[in-house]
Amino acid sequence: MEKLPYFTEVHKDVRDIAKKVAEEFSQTASIADEREDYTIIEKNLKRLGEIGILGLRVPTEYGGQGLDMRSYALALEEIAKTCPSTALSYDAHVLAADSIMLAGNDDQKKKYLPMLAKDKIGAFALSEPYAGSDAAALRTVAELKNGRYILRGEKHFITNGKIADVIVVFAKTDPTKGAKGISAFVVEKGSPGLKIGKLESKMGVRGSPTTQIFLDGVEIPKENLLGKENEGFKIAMEALDIGRIAVAAQSLGISKSAFDIAVKYAKERVQFGQPIINFQAIQFMLADMYVKIKASENLTYYAAWLADSGEKVTLQASIAKLFSSEAALEITDKAIQILGGAGYTRDFPVERLHRDAKIMTIGEGTSEIQRLVIARNIITAK
Ligand code: CAA
Repeated sequence: MEKLPYFTEVHKDVRDIAKKVAEEFSQTASIADEREDYTIIEKNLKRLGEIGILGLRVPTEYGGQGLDMRSYALALEEIAKTCPSTALSYDAHVLAADSIMLAGNDDQKKKYLPMLAKDKIGAFALSEPYAGSDAAALRTVAELKNGRYILRGEKHFITNGKIADVIVVFAKTDPTKGAKGISAFVVEKGSPGLKIGKLESKMGVRGSPTTQIFLDGVEIPKENLLGKENEGFKIAMEALDIGRIAVAAQSLGISKSAFDIAVKYAKERVQFGQPIINFQAIQFMLADMYVKIKASENLTYYAAWLADSGEKVTLQASIAKLFSSEAALEITDKAIQILGGAGYTRDFPVERLHRDAKIMTIGEGTSEIQRLVIARNIITAK
């Protein structure tokens, strides 16, 4: 591992373990993409459970590894190098576990975290047809009746919707109060009234199952409320602070993978009597790609380190996500350019990596929302 100030021997070990499992996932990544086969990704997540990666940051007393954000970032980076669909599903799973870690009481943590660290899959249900970037505009409602909450509404673009055992659902408990009227709930698979809608057919991360979720009078015990009533928006935002570092780490993995493929190809491909890597046009592209990878690395690892120091990471997470995701889109585009016609075919994974990179600039807050968060934070800090 390159010498970086952020890492210890433990991080090196985590990277090695993740690298090995990512090699396994590389065998099926293009099939999962081609066939939109989410069963492959489901199997991969279970594999991550077997080797302790699914519950990497879950405290040991709740069945996890008790590791830190830097370990999580490295694991995601390695997995995203070969199978971004698996990385994204793993990230969405962690958003659910993180919401429980952030706001759950001891009983809720004891009930849900060990299973999420082992072999059960999580999902994070915030987005709705009328509430994407404007997350506080969500319309799903939760009403307390006879000691049980009844949830009604519709969620969409939910990563893992099809395979989730535990869904963290955000709903209005006071529809008159915007962000201050939202609560977070744990809804289990199989709850009466819970319906999983159609599987979205997507441009990229096609193995990761994205679905609608319908809550048609889903009744859950009042004990499934996470934190206090009307404090759910803060839970969502805090989970997304971590999630945005996770997206930056996945973007970094995608960028590095595309870069390595481009270098290898440029060394082997002969045109005009010599390997194309000898040409300045190619070298300049590689230099620009490398600079962006180094910048993404430093922003992402710094944000993860900051999270491990117990600092608020809203600003740094948005900076890392904005830069690294936009960089991944550019780097994968340049990689296709270096491979030329070959890069445009499915014989090489760079076209898939480019399609997979696009979601990184959209999910867990678009690039525009990241700019808004960054601007708000730097303005208020002045
Ligand atoms: N941490 C803690 N609290 C926060 C916070 C944070 N990062 N961000 C906001 N809050 C608090 C604010 O302090 C405020 O509380 P007070 O009034 O008590 O101060 C409250 O939340 C409301 O904040 P805002 O006024 O800033 O809210 P807003 O309506 O203007 O929205 C936003 C802010 C940043 C635009 C937010 O709506 C947002 O992040 N939008 C993007 C949503 C998003 O990322 N969706 C992704 C869906 S999940 C997904 O993609 C996962 C997947 O499946 C893989």
